[in-house]
Amino acid sequence: MKIGIIGSGHIGGTLTRRLSTLGHDVTVANSRGPQSLTDLAQEAGATAGDLEQAAQDAELMIVAVPLLAVPGLPAELFDGKVVVDANNYYPQRDGDIAELLDRSLSSSRWTAEHLKGARVVKAFNNIQAQHLMDNGRPAGTPDRIALPVAGDDAEAKQLVMQLVDSLGFDPVDAGTLDESWRQQPDTPVYGTDRDADGVRQGLAEARP
Ligand SMILES: NC(=O)c1ccc[n+]([C@@H]2O[C@H](COP(=O)([O-])OP(=O)(O)OC[C@H]3O[C@@H](n4cnc5c(N)ncnc54)[C@H](OP(=O)(O)O)[C@@H]3O)[C@@H](O)[C@H]2O)c1
Repeated sequence: MKIGIIGSGHIGGTLTRRLSTLGHDVTVANSRGPQSLTDLAQEAGATAGDLEQAAQDAELMIVAVPLLAVPGLPAELFDGKVVVDANNYYPQRDGDIAELLDRSLSSSRWTAEHLKGARVVKAFNNIQAQHLMDNGRPAGTPDRIALPVAGDDAEAKQLVMQLVDSLGFDPVDAGTLDESWRQQPDTPVYGTDRDADGVRQGLAEARP
């Protein structure tokens, strides 16, 4: 699959490496430009690009940037595309965002409102990058780590759930973007590497 990844840090860099290893055609972009990405691209077997090149013909995009960078991304590049939102809101890093501080919006709904037209799916936000790199296991492995996947577009969510499985994690349907607060920071499933039953239980037990 042709995949564009925005962000080349802990999460974007990890997904660049892992998805390239699986045989996907990955173009990765960051804020400093392709020349800053030659080492990562070479190591991973990916292509270094700018935002436009990452989006060009991409069947799936992944956004893994500090949340405060999202409003500055050119929304037209994501229009109509499946866009995985791996981001979290940390006020210390991202500043005060009223709708997120008062929890009237999930951070993925807030992202979808900025990236109008994108088919946003929340995934990979609740696992540490190093665990995403190292801890994938074949389907059926006891205690295989499960990852919640939330979104409003059933087809887009299915595609991302298949990707999660191919990376070695059990995908768990976590409902809609409005319900995706259940996998945000400070919830039972955040950073806790639960199996599928544990994730379902954690999502159900999450409290606003
Ligand atoms: N670290 C984890 O284990 C982890 C786990 C799950 C979810 N997350 C979430 O994933 C997101 C990324 O976290 P991270 O740890 O990967 O961060 P990071 O290591 O600091 O990397 C952030 C990346 O975003 C890029 N970026 C920033 N502004 C950009 C812009 N305007 N356009 C394009 N690229 C831009 C940066 O590019 P430059 O370097 O060129 O500025 C950098 O490559 C955050 O929302 C975080 O909460 C992190």
